Amino acid sequence: MDDVIRTAAKIVKDSISTIALTGAGISVESGIPDFRSAGGLWTRYNPEEYAHIDGFRRNPRKIWKMIFELMDMTRNAMPNPAHIALAQLEEMGLLKAVITQNIDNLHQRAGSKNVIEFHGNSERLQCIYCGAEYAPEEFDIIDEPPQCKKCGEILKPSVVFFGEMIPHNALMESQNLASDARVVLVIGTSAVVYPASSIPHIAKANGAYIIEFNLEKTVITPIITDIFIQGKVGETLPKFVEAIKAL
Ligand code: APR
Repeated sequence: MDDVIRTAAKIVKDSISTIALTGAGISVESGIPDFRSAGGLWTRYNPEEYAHIDGFRRNPRKIWKMIFELMDMTRNAMPNPAHIALAQLEEMGLLKAVITQNIDNLHQRAGSKNVIEFHGNSERLQCIYCGAEYAPEEFDIIDEPPQCKKCGEILKPSVVFFGEMIPHNALMESQNLASDARVVLVIGTSAVVYPASSIPHIAKANGAYIIEFNLEKTVITPIITDIFIQGKVGETLPKFVEAIKAL
């Protein structure tokens, strides 16, 4: 594995434009379960019911039950060595941006500056009826869902539910970065949710190297991955950055 990491390190060291696409797997070692592995969130909550905007419209209180559980899990989570390794790579001038599917803010808290939140973030609350927006601090969110101060409807965190559009700027910027990338680090994602999953394919079609970090092979591994680095990203990413520093 060390030889594979060294080969990947050389490619990134020589790359004029490297980006990362991260998924829930990068935050598992921070104590936040992913979605599709054993014990993942979607093994306990049906995403069609709990993560689709139509489900939220039908029964927001039911969805807030899952949101409260997610808030409890992310409240005490800290960035892990994988998040820190990516922040170091950006600091070294070798990582242009992190495109993350996660909403836990751990990349930013690890020090990454250019983070594109592809699925929004939990830092804002929005009213899907009258369009009002609020900061969570404006409410005492303990066990009651927050209600819009204008129209009284139950608010939703500004994360992207299935059936909702990806924020326009995030989509445009990510597609441009993918087209120009020479290397894409695909980290801790099952790469099954579109359009985030199109990022490595766009880059590959434009001649980029795909370096995948995951516990196990994914649907893209046999199709577009050039180098597969197996293991816990909390261990493999710091090793990868150390290998770059040693070049
Ligand atoms: N180290 C490396 N990889 C890991 C680790 C770890 N410690 N833990 C889990 N993984 C890998 C799993 O093997 C899996 O391939 O991370 C991936 C997580 O996949 P998912 O649970 O499907 O999460 P993600 O790819 O981020 O899901 C994408 O789906 O439901 C939506 O909005 C949700 O953003 C999410 C999107």
